[in-house]
Amino acid sequence: MRVLKRVAWWSAGAISLALLALLIAWWRSSNTCSDRGAAPQGNLMKAIVYCDYGSPDVLRLENIEKPAPADDQILVRVRAASVNPLDWHYIRGTPYVMRMEAGLRKPKVIRLGVDFAGTVEAVGRNVKQFRPGDDVFGARTGAFAEYVSVREDRAVLKPANLTFEQAASVPVAAVTALQGLRDKGRVQPGQKVLINGASGGVGTFAVQIAKSFGAEVTGVCSTRNVAMVRSIGADHVIDYTKEDFTEGAQRYDLILDNVGNRSLLENRRVLKPKGKYIMVGGPSGRWIDPLPRALDAFLLSRFVSQDMTMFLAELNKEDLTILRDLMQAGKVTPVIDRRYRLSEVPEAIRYLEAGHARGKVVVTVE
Ligand SMILES: NC(=O)c1ccc[n+]([C@@H]2O[C@H](COP(=O)([O-])OP(=O)(O)OC[C@H]3O[C@@H](n4cnc5c(N)ncnc54)[C@H](OP(=O)(O)O)[C@@H]3O)[C@@H](O)[C@H]2O)c1
Repeated sequence: MRVLKRVAWWSAGAISLALLALLIAWWRSSNTCSDRGAAPQGNLMKAIVYCDYGSPDVLRLENIEKPAPADDQILVRVRAASVNPLDWHYIRGTPYVMRMEAGLRKPKVIRLGVDFAGTVEAVGRNVKQFRPGDDVFGARTGAFAEYVSVREDRAVLKPANLTFEQAASVPVAAVTALQGLRDKGRVQPGQKVLINGASGGVGTFAVQIAKSFGAEVTGVCSTRNVAMVRSIGADHVIDYTKEDFTEGAQRYDLILDNVGNRSLLENRRVLKPKGKYIMVGGPSGRWIDPLPRALDAFLLSRFVSQDMTMFLAELNKEDLTILRDLMQAGKVTPVIDRRYRLSEVPEAIRYLEAGHARGKVVVTVE
């Protein structure tokens, strides 16, 4: 009894301390918006910034200080950027669990956007691979701006056969598709691969990349996107408004799921005995989604012959280079849906957040 009492006291103490630490972190979490009194002076550029979490209405186009490249960085004049679901997750600060890293009460980093393409304007003294005038694309927080300074290992040369808009649409979505299929899915020539959400940013790259690996690809999308998904190389297309892929007779070696609208058991039903289910996107909720589904996949995998897993893509130069080569060889061509100006980033985000983009949504920076 005494031991139980002691455990209860210690637990209550630990929980109270954790809550107190959380409360202090909440009130102390701030960002550079609070330091900005007078209008910024000196070398300025336009950039999208946000000081508080909320809807895309919190975004503002402002003049802020133009960055200078550090020794290992290049300064890129951004010509185009692209929008990803992660942008609206950062604006809303949801699922809330991500605020542990992004800032509890306010976003710690007030700049937005990741994917960019543009022209190198200046290079740091240790930069070896780029020169001013080079056209590049890559990934760096703050891509919705006239300039970004970025480490040279976060960018690659843009192929001449690609526009800035096409190149800007590549990093997050295409690297995700590549790593999901190659590293997690271990896709092999001749395998049957199903891409759920084949018409979105990740999906349009995944269909083409899976084809480049020699797979037989089935894409799942709605009626209006059937022709587009077929045109980028899908061997079969399932219109989800007419047919449920989890009820078909076909069995797949690999399912790349960008949507997460069917249960894990339903997905498992159409996997071969040694098949793999790779969860890229899942249901979005306010608190911790899609973590419970990822945990379910992990647990289910322990009891079935199939491998079911969630993964998070990691941007790196090697994979950007592989994608650059695939595009240069004409094996992958980015699909662009809509174009917005820098001042229209809030509309671009609203459009993407509605969940029905056809390929990538890009922002052109004049
Ligand atoms: N794990 C990672 O590292 C990682 C990286 C990047 C993205 N993600 C996540 O992956 C998901 C997809 O990203 P994305 O950039 O491709 O998003 P997106 O471009 O916004 O995807 C939109 C597409 O989803 C399709 N879709 C909607 N409901 C569908 C359904 N019931 N069945 C099939 N397709 C459906 C839409 O097609 P219709 O208009 O035809 O409905 C639309 O083309 C997001 O949840 C994102 O957060 C994860």
